[in-house]
Amino acid sequence: MCLKIGPYTLSSRILLAPMAGVTDAPYRQLCHQFGAGLTPAEMITSDPSLRHSKKTQQRLLQNTDALPRSVQIVGTEPKIMAQAAQFNAELGANIIDINMGCPAKKVCNKLAGSALMQDPDLVKKILTRVVKAVDIPVTLKMRTGWASNQKNAQLIAKIAENAGISCIAIHGRTRNQAYTGYAEYETIRHVKQSISIPVIANGDIASPEDASFILNYTQVDALMLGRITQGQPWIFQAFNQQLNSSNKVKNHQNTITYEIKKKSILQHISAIHRHYGTDQGVRIARKHIGWYLFKLVGHKPSLLKRLKQEIFKISDANLQHQHLEISLQKLDLSLGNDLKDYK
Ligand SMILES: Cc1cc2nc3c(=O)[nH]c(=O)nc-3n(C[C@H](O)[C@H](O)[C@H](O)COP(=O)(O)O)c2cc1C
Repeated sequence: MCLKIGPYTLSSRILLAPMAGVTDAPYRQLCHQFGAGLTPAEMITSDPSLRHSKKTQQRLLQNTDALPRSVQIVGTEPKIMAQAAQFNAELGANIIDINMGCPAKKVCNKLAGSALMQDPDLVKKILTRVVKAVDIPVTLKMRTGWASNQKNAQLIAKIAENAGISCIAIHGRTRNQAYTGYAEYETIRHVKQSISIPVIANGDIASPEDASFILNYTQVDALMLGRITQGQPWIFQAFNQQLNSSNKVKNHQNTITYEIKKKSILQHISAIHRHYGTDQGVRIARKHIGWYLFKLVGHKPSLLKRLKQEIFKISDANLQHQHLEISLQKLDLSLGNDLKDYK
């Protein structure tokens, strides 16, 4: 059964997790192509004074974005959050997502992001006000709580359900854990049992086997993948194939050929250059190129280091693209089956 958020039935139960600085428009488009059921935009501040900043402008929805378009807002003030929701709905958002998961100090010092979970009354005010402000579904992304002795995800989920939130995504860590330790799914399972709106599980889901286990254990409606997609956005296809197949494909990565990977990587880098302009684009592309190369040749550290050194010193967009294309061709020839079999 596919997840329904308001009037939207998602095409897959495997969704992209919002990641600031990663899930920009080019990345979202690519993940959609490979079968992500939802590709949320990067978190946008609710502060209206920052609406015209270059960063916010680059984070706005693009016409390349697949439907439904989910935009995540972050902030503290119920009224400002409601206005931010309206602003983004007018710009074409189909879903407004509220961030209560971000552990970053910059956000938490202002009691936004995951810090909001410490103040259930404020959570209620924000959610109620935002839901009232727009006539599109509002979703919530949160953690299991503030700290291991303050896991109040169930309480916040109930508040969210009563406020009219359409769906809740839970990262199975507390705010204090940041990204350390492991995600746990027991709290997510309890939340799922205690509310009747859809729940999405997130955190450390690294393989289709993990996905099957977590879906079964928590009974959630969908899963969100974050860091595991970096350098391998085609992983959505592998997850979908395996989850939808009764005859499970054992080595899921091998179903995507090197040719497809190469074409997708080059398409992605060109899209980054177009989206950010060539100067900024070259710098942003380096991060993704690093991840791609790591996934392709991370098992050969000296080769990885050399490839990165060569390509990271290039500051011209065309040269960066050309050099990457040649490197990927050479890799295909020199690593042969070794590369194709590499997971
Ligand atoms: C670089 C980075 C940026 C992130 N930005 C956001 C964000 O803007 N909003 C949000 O709700 N979560 C954000 N997250 C958290 C992810 O959505 C996700 O909850 C977390 O990475 C755990 O999932 P994973 O183990 O699959 O990566 C970010 C994570 C990373 C690594």
